[in-house]
Amino acid sequence: MAEESSNWIVMVTAKSPTNIAVIKYWGKRDETLILPINDSISVTLDPDHLCTTTTVAVSPAFQSDRMWLNGKEISLSGHRYQNCLREIRQRASEYEDEKRGIRISKEDWGKLHVHIASYNNFPTAAGLASSAAGFACLVFALGKLMQVKEDLGALSAIARQGSGSACRSLYGGFVKWVMGNDVTGKDSIAVQLASEKHWDDLVIIIAVVSSRQKETSSTTGMRESVETSTLLHHRSKEVVPKRIVQMEEAIANRDFASFSKLTCTDSNQFHAVCLDTCPPIFYMNDTSHKIISYVEKWNQYEGTAQVAYTFDAGPNAVLIARDRKTAGHLLQRLLFYFPPNVDLSSYVLGDKSILQEAGVESLKDIEGLPSPPEVKDNVAPKRYPGDVSYFICTRPGRGPVVLTGEDQALLDPKTGLPK
Ligand code: DP6
Repeated sequence: MAEESSNWIVMVTAKSPTNIAVIKYWGKRDETLILPINDSISVTLDPDHLCTTTTVAVSPAFQSDRMWLNGKEISLSGHRYQNCLREIRQRASEYEDEKRGIRISKEDWGKLHVHIASYNNFPTAAGLASSAAGFACLVFALGKLMQVKEDLGALSAIARQGSGSACRSLYGGFVKWVMGNDVTGKDSIAVQLASEKHWDDLVIIIAVVSSRQKETSSTTGMRESVETSTLLHHRSKEVVPKRIVQMEEAIANRDFASFSKLTCTDSNQFHAVCLDTCPPIFYMNDTSHKIISYVEKWNQYEGTAQVAYTFDAGPNAVLIARDRKTAGHLLQRLLFYFPPNVDLSSYVLGDKSILQEAGVESLKDIEGLPSPPEVKDNVAPKRYPGDVSYFICTRPGRGPVVLTGEDQALLDPKTGLPK
């Protein structure tokens, strides 16, 4: 293995995006391999605003596999981590660094322990698909470290075994997770429908909604839906297959009206399935419902779709605006209904240039915002300070990348421990 000393460490750091489904994955046909009951489609979000960074390292000096998430050591004993590690190790190939006198044979990889440090640039507790970015990044980084020669599709089938939605984060832009039908899951992989450049007018604003309630995890929620919801089975057999075709067409043609209709309808059906589950699952709250009503009313007033909404297994709204100008109008409305009770710079995060688009520079500007024109009543609409924790402005973004700067690594190159 090592030519001279056993103190060497080899490490790789990567950064991966999260994604938001516009046709939802909800329900598994195989719990262990994580095989879904329908195809799904997602938009990858710009990793500059929401991402996971992961450093993976091996050394003959490491005593066991260890992982730190956001600085805290966590257990790797769960079967999801174990499956990803095993699958990657099986595909490892030889590594050689002549300069440092390091050679790792295919067999050696199975004997070497890994250290993993992972960090989300957004609060894990905010319910923003951290497991999707996390497992995509872990598998991508381990694949690079262990010289896995297979393509991103094969890697996506491994990330899928960490968390279903993670397979879609291996690509940028617009991504489809093909459910496949093989019992081994080898054909249940992600494919890129179009890169992020294909439709770069889109602007995404995420409203991180304040929530006191402990939510049912996606894993548990979808298991209960599979067991009890007849609507879910109708959805996966009759509804989703047609929607997938229509969504692919809408994306290919950059047809916002159709994209928006399908996105909103699919989100609403997913939440209807949750209500149809026994006992019912409530992921959206009053604030989520208000946001839906505001968007619906505005779209109706304009006569054409301006903004699409979608909600995952939590109350946060993901709003997709047709272009920057519309995103500015959307942000005006959001700040009107949900004014901050913190300073603006910690209330609107991500691509802050959307604030300029909205013509908002200060809290004073927010106080002065007029009622949106679609509000016809003579009574001033109610405003809800404190119902939204913050907004993140972002856009469709690229897939995982390797970070080469040593300062970007999360593990110390000498000790292999978190910096
Ligand atoms: C509502 O991928 O988190 O976000 O496969 O059990 O880890 P597991 O579930 P997960 O479920 C995501 C569900 C969803 C919809 C989606 O992303 O398609």
